[in-house]
This record gives sequence, C-alpha cells and structure tokens, in this order.
Amino acid sequence: MLRRPRRNRKSLVIRNLVEETQLSVQHLIFPIFIIEGDNQRKEVASMSGIYRYSIDLLLEEVAACQELGIRTFAPFPALTDDKKDPLAQEGHNPDGLFPTAIRRIKEVFPDVCLMTDIAMDPYSSDGHDGLVRDGEILNDETLEILGKMALAQAEAGTDMLGPSDMMDGRIGYLRKLLDEHGFTNVSIMAYTAKYASAFYGPFRDALDSAPKSGDKKTYQMNPANAREALMEAQLDYEEGADMLMVKPALPYLDIVQSLKAQFPIPIAAYQVSGEYAMIKAAAANGWLDGKKTMEESLLSIRRAGADIILTYFAKEYAQWLKL
Ligand code: PBG
Repeated sequence: MLRRPRRNRKSLVIRNLVEETQLSVQHLIFPIFIIEGDNQRKEVASMSGIYRYSIDLLLEEVAACQELGIRTFAPFPALTDDKKDPLAQEGHNPDGLFPTAIRRIKEVFPDVCLMTDIAMDPYSSDGHDGLVRDGEILNDETLEILGKMALAQAEAGTDMLGPSDMMDGRIGYLRKLLDEHGFTNVSIMAYTAKYASAFYGPFRDALDSAPKSGDKKTYQMNPANAREALMEAQLDYEEGADMLMVKPALPYLDIVQSLKAQFPIPIAAYQVSGEYAMIKAAAANGWLDGKKTMEESLLSIRRAGADIILTYFAKEYAQWLKL
C-alpha cells in the first residue's frame, strides 16, 4: 500500500499537527436567561445546568464567565404573564426587564459584547413572534414593534441585534431605522435560516413562551428546505446583515456549509436548547460521555463552517478547557 492514512494518526503530536479545525472559547456566544427580582436563581427544568437569573446574580454569572474567557452573551428575558400583552409593549419599555439588564451589564462590563434578541415572543400574550390578527401572524405590522424594541435595546447599549422572528424585510427595516437614529455601529446578526424546529422545546419552557395557538410554520422555515435558505441569506445580505445565522445547528450542518461557501460574511450556528438537553439527558443516564459529546458536537459545527457558535455549553466547555 502506498497510501496508508493511518500514518498521519500514529501519535498525538502528529494528530495535532494535521488537525484541520480549531475550536476555542473566543468563537462561542453564551445564551443566558433573565428574570425579575433580587437574588433569584432558578434552574430550567429541561436544561440541567442552565439557570434563569435576576439581574444582580446575572452580573455575578457574567463575571464568572468572563474569567473563563467568554466575552459574548445572548441574554433572553423571561417575563411573568402579567407583563405580556398582544402588542408586546414591555419589549420597548426602557425601564423594562430587558433594556434594564442590557444597561446594567454594559455599565459593569463595558468590554462584554451583547447580542440581544429582537422578536415579540417573550413579551407576547399570544406566544408568537409577530402580531396576531384573526389567527394570522402579520408581517409588516410587526416590523414597527420590532423597530421600537430595537431602538430601546440600542439606547440601552447593546452591541448587536439578533432579529429572530423570520419576518420578511426585517433586516433592511431595522438597519435603516438604526442608522437614522445614529446607531450606525450597532451590528445585526440575522437569524437567516431559522427552522420551525421541535428542538426549541426547552427554550420555550425557560421563557414560558410557547405559542398559545397554532405553530410557527408560517414564518419559520420548513426543515425539508435547503435552497430556500440561500434566498433568505441573499435577502439578509442585501438588506445589510453583518452576520448570518443558522438554527438549530447539528441537524442543519448542510445549511451552515452552503452559507459559508456562498456568502462573504461571518456565519453563526445556534446549538439550541433541545440539542443541549439531549446530550445532557443522555449523559445524566450514563448513556453518553457528556464532555466528549459536547466537544464533538461543537467541533462538528465549526468543521461545517460556523465562525461563531451560540451554545448553552459555552460555560461548561470553557471550564473543561481550564481543567
Ligand atoms: C424566539 C426564539 C426561540 C429561540 C431563540 N429565540 C424560540 C422559538 O422560535 O420559539 C430558541 C432557542 C433555543 O431553543 O435554544 N424568537
């Protein structure tokens, strides 16, 4: 045999020498959940190791993560039902939980990068990402609400907006609005190819944000479609997105790979709550090695072409690297 591929695997040094993909904490974004109150820390039942924090404890958590090298966070607010209404008005209340949390984090940690979510669902009594009228999820009427939310977050000091609702035209609308208000430096990471996925279940538990009726299939993408993601990416690119995201991650690596090949801006992948929960549950049962599976899943997402990974494993992975 002239070709013996095993020669390049014969020692750890050689394996490291020829390693094609690098994964490090600098590429990770840590999603974190925020609740009202003081001194509150509540575990999400379906996501062991992931907690919802009141702002005071959230600041301690951000400090601890920063020590581990995590510099970018994607906070999400979990609101009580009395703060939700059909117009998601709490989303643009400057003194509401979310803008307050953004302001506090940026005051205490000016160097931390925040990527903040733009969608109605955490604030909507309908549990949908858009305005609901007669059972229909409205597109253009929702944009104005998203705009108010975006300005409230920009004023609070966010670094990057993550419009996550799969409404049409939102990137162009928000880019123009931000620029008109002097926020030319606020970035936009488009949730470009966000699929109508069953893997979001634990996240909706964390925020209590499941739709009250119907599903999200008229706005989130059909898991069967790949070419459609190219059109979504083309639109987001032309509308001014700084980065494109694919979500979920592991079941959609083909999409990550094709966006990476076709668009000259950074590509992110969101390893979602259900992907995390599956690995944690199997590990808790002793059916999988949790640490190795975590690392392999993150590495695979990088190998497919993700520059950035949003993952609930960010802290655990960073802790593991320090061992
Ligand atoms: C909603 C939003 C969702 C997630 C992030 N933003 C859920 C949904 O569309 O219902 C899911 C994240 C996860 O599952 O980890 N705008």
